[in-house]
This record gives sequence, structure tokens and C-alpha cells, in this order.
Amino acid sequence: MRPVGVGMLGAGFIGEFHTLGLRYVPEARVVAHADASPERREAFAARFDSRPHATIEALCADPEVDLVIVSLPNHLHREAVLAAAAAGKAVACTKPLGRNAAEAADMVGAVRAAGVWSAYLENVVFNLDLMRVKEMVDAGAIGRVTTIRAREGHSGPHAAHFWDAELAGGGALLDMASHGTEVARYLLGKDLAATEVFAWGATLVHGARTTGEDNAVMVIRFEDGRAATCDVSWTSKGGLEGRFEVYGDAGRIVHDMGTGTIRAFIERPAGYLGEKADADTGWVFPVPDEVRVHGHDAMLADVVESFRAGRAPQETLRDGYIVNCILDSAYRSMRSGRWEPVVVDPEVAGG
Ligand SMILES: NC(=O)c1ccc[n+]([C@@H]2O[C@H](COP(=O)([O-])OP(=O)(O)OC[C@H]3O[C@@H](n4cnc5c(N)ncnc54)[C@H](O)[C@@H]3O)[C@@H](O)[C@H]2O)c1
Repeated sequence: MRPVGVGMLGAGFIGEFHTLGLRYVPEARVVAHADASPERREAFAARFDSRPHATIEALCADPEVDLVIVSLPNHLHREAVLAAAAAGKAVACTKPLGRNAAEAADMVGAVRAAGVWSAYLENVVFNLDLMRVKEMVDAGAIGRVTTIRAREGHSGPHAAHFWDAELAGGGALLDMASHGTEVARYLLGKDLAATEVFAWGATLVHGARTTGEDNAVMVIRFEDGRAATCDVSWTSKGGLEGRFEVYGDAGRIVHDMGTGTIRAFIERPAGYLGEKADADTGWVFPVPDEVRVHGHDAMLADVVESFRAGRAPQETLRDGYIVNCILDSAYRSMRSGRWEPVVVDPEVAGG
């Protein structure tokens, strides 16, 4: 069996992570990529020995591409997933699936109608530490889970498209709480429906750069009364924050992505230390293998194995759709100042 031919759509930040995430997956090879920027396109071609294309359509039409991985800005996810489905290609899309639930529903509908295999790329639930947390929760180590708390932050995104809230579909909440929302569903069980959401968001620091919220807090209430809180920030200094806490009636478990085993005091820069590190001298906290630590290796292994086996991946487009539904409710709540119901179309979520 020849390796799965992967077409990487987007050769930017996450396109690189997704490509590196496949380095230990011999059953797949990135054979082609597309990027609108000629410099990025050529640099990626040289580095990964992959065939460059300039457009979404050209990449989807490449006969060697079996699986399209969408690593493009939020506003292009829908167009890219629909193009891959129309070309009869399997497709996996990064978070957030859509800018809103309507876009995500279109994507779910398109892959179903075309009968192509699909996956949602949510890496955090594949991070080894969080998988261990899940094992402990499932083993009953902390009793019945009562609440979950996610805190994610950094000092602001690296590319212009994130800052344009109309183009991106939202600010820090959509960008970061898409992770925490799926972590909550992963730990509580995906059959448990989220019923309502309360959220606050404000532009506290970056008003000159964005109309989107740069800080937000969201409480998700589930059908059995339990709750998850996602607290996110684009104004948090001192490096990437990713803390996930689970509280039960017989214990608690805390996972802090930001506390690796290396801390160093350096007077001279050592090059790249980690995503959104904020400092390259002084006390620094280098991440040893960020692609693995952040869950991309395990996520892409699951994607390729599931695709080859013809089974559903752990994270499906339906999961991405539900996350979008929850986040849509949060944005409604930010505007209304009230709890807002989570509206899920049973036809999209079923089927
Ligand atoms: N899982 C994660 O932790 C994670 C982290 C970062 C970003 N992301 C997601 O990945 C997506 C992309 O973010 P990024 O950080 O890689 O952005 P980026 O700006 O670093 O990369 C995006 C790339 O897309 C290219 N591009 C733009 N328009 C194009 C078009 N029409 N055709 C082809 N190429 C085009 C750009 O030239 C750029 O190289 C976003 O949806 C973001 O939410 C996920």
C-alpha cells in the first residue's frame, strides 16, 4: 500500500506543525502544499520536498493528494473543506472548524453529501498529559467530575488575520476557547449535551488593533448541571498558558502545559524556544519538542490510521460543529448579558 498522499493547505504556522506532526507517521507523506505567498510556498517546497501550488483548487486537483489538511486562516476553512469534498478528497480541518456554527454545518453537510472521509484537528485532546488525565478520570480516581476549568493565554496572535475580528469570526474566545470547549467535552464525555452558556468578553488592551475581545470568560452548563469554565486571554505576558483543571468529589487533577522540566537563565538568545515565548533571554522555559508536547504527533497518527482503516477519527467534523454551536452561544451571551441556550441542529449533529 502506498503512503497516504497528504496535501497541506497553508504553509504558515500551523501548516508547519501539521507537517512536522507527520514525521513519525511512515504511512503518510506530504506530497503537495498550497500557499498564497510565493515565499512561503517555495520555502516549504525546499524544506519538505513537496510540490507547491498557489491555490486551494490546484491542491485539491493534485492527483497524488488523497487527504487535504486545512491549515488556513479561519475565513478560508469553509471554502477549503467544500473544495476538497467537491474534488472527492478526504479532508481534515484545523480549529475552529467554522467562524460560526452555520459555516461548520455547511462543512459537515458537504463531506456527508460527497461521501468523503473527514476529521477535525483539535490537538489539545491528544497531548500526552491530558490523555493521562483522562485515563485517571475514567478510572474514577477523582470520583464524579463536578467542574472543569481551562485557562489559555498568550500576549496576542502572530498574524494579521487573527486581529481582524470580522474576518476571523471572533477574537480570543473563538481562537482559544475552541480548545477548552473540546477538552471539557473530552473529559465529561461527548454524549453529555451542553445546554447553555454565559460569557463575558472585552477588548482591554488591544483596542487599536482589533474590535474583537482580547479577554473572555465563558461558563458552559451541561444537561446534568455540571459546568466548565474557559478563561482566555490575548494579553497575558510571559509565554503560552495552557492550564486544564478537573475537579471531582474525590479529588482534583491539574495539568499545566506551561510547566516543562527545563528552566534556564540565559543572557544570550538560543533561537526559537516555544510558541509565543515573549522573551529570549533572562529566565526562559524552552519546550523540548513542541509538536509532540502539544499533541500534534498523536493527533496526526490518529488521523492517518483512521483514514487508512476507513473508520471515524477520534475528533470528527461533528465535534467541530458542536464546539462552534457552544461558542456561538457564548457570543450571543456576551451581547445579551444573559445565559443563552446552545442551539444544535439535530440533523447536522445526527446522521
Ligand atoms: N491547533 C492549534 O493549536 C493552532 C495553532 C495556530 C493556528 N491554528 C489555526 O490554524 C489556522 C491558520 O493559522 P496560522 O497560525 O497557521 O496562520 P498563518 O498566518 O501562520 O498561516 C496561514 C497561511 O495561509 C496562507 N494563505 C492565506 N490565504 C490563502 C489562500 N487563499 N490560499 C492559500 N494559502 C493562503 C498564508 O499565506 C499563510 O502562510 C487558523 O484557523 C488557526 O486557528 C491552530
